[in-house]
Amino acid sequence: MKILVIGANGQLGGDLVQILSEYSPKHQVISLSHSDLEITNPSQVQQVLKQYHPQVVVNTAAYHKVDEVENNPEKAFAVNAIAPLTLARLCREMDVALMFLSTDYVFGGEENRTKPYAENDCPAPLNVYGISKLAGEKSIQATWHKHWIVRTSGLYGLRGASGKGGNFVELMLRLAHEGKDIRVVNDQRLSPTFTQELARGLLNLIEKAPYGLYHLTCSGECSWYEFAVMIFELAELHPNLQPTTSAEFKATARRPSYSVLANLAIKKAGIAPLKDWQSALADYLNQRKKLANQPCGG
Ligand SMILES: NC(=O)c1ccc[n+]([C@@H]2O[C@H](COP(=O)([O-])OP(=O)(O)OC[C@H]3O[C@@H](n4cnc5c(N)ncnc54)[C@H](OP(=O)(O)O)[C@@H]3O)[C@@H](O)[C@H]2O)c1
Repeated sequence: MKILVIGANGQLGGDLVQILSEYSPKHQVISLSHSDLEITNPSQVQQVLKQYHPQVVVNTAAYHKVDEVENNPEKAFAVNAIAPLTLARLCREMDVALMFLSTDYVFGGEENRTKPYAENDCPAPLNVYGISKLAGEKSIQATWHKHWIVRTSGLYGLRGASGKGGNFVELMLRLAHEGKDIRVVNDQRLSPTFTQELARGLLNLIEKAPYGLYHLTCSGECSWYEFAVMIFELAELHPNLQPTTSAEFKATARRPSYSVLANLAIKKAGIAPLKDWQSALADYLNQRKKLANQPCGG
């Protein structure tokens, strides 16, 4: 299958390209970074679709600096909603299947929620980012039925989120090495997800699953604070880590206190669940260590 990956320099896009390349020649991968393609430019998008004629397009690109997005709704809608709409229209014209990455932040409006969200639960985003991604989902659903919309959460990958300048694990490790006191919110629960695990799951979806809406995260759940505790336990570091609250942290954008996603549709489709978040984190830290120990090329 010829699969075109948009946002290929990102942490998820990079892992997906790598995993697809391992399956060559079964899959031919075309990877486009931001410098190759601006997804808000419809004529550029049309041109690359015509040039490469893929069977599947995976759009991992997003504007997802959640706090910054809060004051930039026009850009958020351009990248996260209008560009996916344009992509869906062009994919329909050319009969190309479209995969769109969405977010657990389409949920959050239910303050006392403690049960993982199913795919058919009613979204209620709390911030502009979540609203813009939900608009992207709806635009695709209304335009072109050959789609997989995949909601995921708390991504971290070896490349770091290029759009965010790193990831949570790297931030924690850096603060610990700098000897800083660390305070992390303990009142937001999620399922942190290693992008390499997610990329394997996306490949399974493309190969085996019917079109539709899917939740795909590592299994289990934790708060950001509990995630940090596990990072330091596995990395054998002992910084001064304290729990805090969202109210004390005072971020610009509101975030869900609970956005754990039940991965129900993948089970129905016979797709293997992703690893539990602790094992995936251990994999990440091991791979990171191996990369650090590799001699520099020259
Ligand atoms: N990160 C998370 O915790 C998280 C959680 C849930 C869902 N998601 C979703 O998962 C997807 C992948 O996230 P990620 O963490 O892998 O993101 P990432 O590392 O920031 O990668 C996104 C890539 O898209 C590119 N991009 C941004 N704007 C673009 C544009 N207008 N045109 C073309 N390319 C553009 C970025 O390039 P530049 O950096 O060069 O601009 C970057 O390489 C996103 O759709 C995101 O909404 C992420």
